[in-house]
Amino acid sequence: MHCVQKITDNIYWVGGNDRRLERFENMFPIPDGVCYNSYLILDEKTCLMDTVDTAISRLFIENITHVLNGRDLDYLVINHMEPDHCANIEELVRRYPNIKIVGNKKTFQFIGQFYDFDYCNNSHEVKDCEMLNLGRHNLKFMAMPMIHWPEVMFTYEETEKILFSADAFGTFGAMAGNIFADETDFEHHYLGESRRYYSNIVGKYGNQVQGALKKLSSYDIRMICPLHGPIWRENAEYFIGKYDKWSRYEPEKNGVVLVYASMYGNTENIINVIANKLAQKGVKDMRMYDISKTHPSYIIADIWKYSHVVFGSVTYNNGLYYGMESLLNEIKALNLQNRKVGLVGNGTWSPQAIKVMKEILCTMKNMEVVGTPFEMTSSMKDNEEEIVDRFVEDFYSSIS
Ligand code: FEO
Repeated sequence: MHCVQKITDNIYWVGGNDRRLERFENMFPIPDGVCYNSYLILDEKTCLMDTVDTAISRLFIENITHVLNGRDLDYLVINHMEPDHCANIEELVRRYPNIKIVGNKKTFQFIGQFYDFDYCNNSHEVKDCEMLNLGRHNLKFMAMPMIHWPEVMFTYEETEKILFSADAFGTFGAMAGNIFADETDFEHHYLGESRRYYSNIVGKYGNQVQGALKKLSSYDIRMICPLHGPIWRENAEYFIGKYDKWSRYEPEKNGVVLVYASMYGNTENIINVIANKLAQKGVKDMRMYDISKTHPSYIIADIWKYSHVVFGSVTYNNGLYYGMESLLNEIKALNLQNRKVGLVGNGTWSPQAIKVMKEILCTMKNMEVVGTPFEMTSSMKDNEEEIVDRFVEDFYSSIS
């Protein structure tokens, strides 16, 4: 049975949800599932905006067959060639042999790399700012390279002023019938997952996102239709504002995330001591994570949100504990910047953790190590409390 919704008089949402997938990109846990959006425009010409993941192909074909109601499919616009959105191109060409696939040079390069069907007679290559008229609707294709792949385009529909934004403004989390953000409690239900999606998947490309926001600022946008998550038809400025902050690498909130790598609980203990002391000074809403317990994507999302981080790690193999090293290298790869950092290291002999953490942090932009890193030997002793108090005082001063 088809499962579609109208988003305007002649445009339909024909996507679907996947609540069975364990990990998005086989990497990120998605306990709330994910949705794959696709949109079908009915005009003198019919036009589909992207396809979906193989997981929901059957429903997707039912959806577009129902909406087309016997009509041919004239165009398929590929805004993004990652397989979670383009898994059905070959099937559509088979079903609608007259279809024109609209993409740029890189789009067609990637179709050739991923798939083995002949699309030569079906390709319609476009350049940045090129237009396509469907009748009443006019599509303008905007190149948005590296948000987050090089072939990415946004498509702006001029008549109804709708932006089809590829992965941008998307989120993890399936949709429960309410496909518009204004029909959901977005802040509570989706904001955390959209931050996790942004920081881990798009986060590296802050400059490109800033460029895109600048480009879009001259357009009158009444609706944003992303490839994942709810559609924005009201108060889109709210989410655009989040994207602006995230892509500037500016924290949303003055606050502290504490992350530890601890083998026998001694490093965990000192991080708890520091958190207690910060709480007693009045720091609220802190977040604490055991690197071996929580998937790094959640930790990264909170580091994106808050202004301060304390990293505490044991020494391992004369270097850094694997999970902590991996987290630090990942936030470096994602280009995270502008945070204040406290460091705690532990080693029973030849401690190395602080040295390696500093080496990684000093290659990042504007990551300021606050106070004197606290280095302990195996476990914290009462006579070291004064040193910890000094560390906490310095760290606290940098928050307030
Ligand atoms: Fe949703 Fe970049 O794919």
